[in-house]
Amino acid sequence: MEPKPFAVKICLGSSCYTRGSREILESIQSYIAEEKLESLVMLTGSLCEEQCRSGPTITINDVTYTGVDKKKALDLLDKHIHTHNHKPITGDTHSEKEC
Ligand code: FES
Repeated sequence: MEPKPFAVKICLGSSCYTRGSREILESIQSYIAEEKLESLVMLTGSLCEEQCRSGPTITINDVTYTGVDKKKALDLLDKHIHTHNHKPITGDTHSEKEC
């Protein structure tokens, strides 16, 4: 199986889950299906990204973004895909692990 160029991991740990990560996951799944991105995006979940105080947290190609909502998650994914960007999106919140 070919590796997919965009690895998206959403935290589904209890803290992020209570802050809406399930809804974010569902919106990303819908976006991938609508845009026919299944061959480009590997979507996975995690149980904690050690950013519990700042969640919901998503990671796109090893860059972790905190304080994400549905709109921000889709904007970030869209920017990464359409610029083929593997680096942090300037102006958006991203962080190193804090816990
Ligand atoms: S539960 Fe999401 S970062 Fe810990």
